[in-house]
Amino acid sequence: MLCLRFLSNKSHHRDIINMTTNIGVLASGRGSNLQAILDAVEAGEIPDAEIAVVVSDKENAFSLQRARKKKIDAVHINPVDYESRQEYDQAVVDLLKGKKVELVCMAGYMRIISPIFVKAFPNRVMNIHPALLPSFPGLNAQKQALEYAVKVTGCTVHFADEQVDHGPIIIQTAVPVLEDDDVDSLSRRILKQEHRIYPEAIKLFCEGRLEVDGRRVNVIK
Ligand code: GRF
Repeated sequence: MLCLRFLSNKSHHRDIINMTTNIGVLASGRGSNLQAILDAVEAGEIPDAEIAVVVSDKENAFSLQRARKKKIDAVHINPVDYESRQEYDQAVVDLLKGKKVELVCMAGYMRIISPIFVKAFPNRVMNIHPALLPSFPGLNAQKQALEYAVKVTGCTVHFADEQVDHGPIIIQTAVPVLEDDDVDSLSRRILKQEHRIYPEAIKLFCEGRLEVDGRRVNVIK
């Protein structure tokens, strides 16, 4: 059993030394999940956490602006400058390690990470997906849900493993699909829940309360 409580070991040390969890966020787009995380850290809802850096593969990502507005290091790493996905990921990993990042949060990061990444941060890379995995992995999850005509969909925060939208599930929330929903209206309602459960999952990690046992993530009370 891999037990993050003892690996990250925050809760044991908290009273003795004030240990902060350094978080790195990877984001390619508008960054509303990043914003929810930034706000939660600022409001003290995720105690002992700091956003050390935000990295984007897109130079003009609004997420970089959101980070700079909060005086957080915002770095564009251009995939064009690297010959392979592995090389690119190694550069991102090196940057994150240089910033002493312990938890990596993918928030609308539109690249598939290579095994290099997962090995560098085992059970320390989180992702958010706008569906109830294992349903509707990959792109356009909300559209997939509407086309399949499910009555309920939702969102999932999970640890990343070597397959896309696949690793151990931390938190899921259901969102009903309404008869007159289109992609926009459904996405909006799912996003509202994303903004709630992503900070919640990060908080549990920072408190050392996530214990990974194979596919299962136990939340220590
Ligand atoms: C979210 O729906 C997230 O679940 C998915 O990409 C979208 C990113 O939105 N992975 P934002 O950039 O956080 O606003």
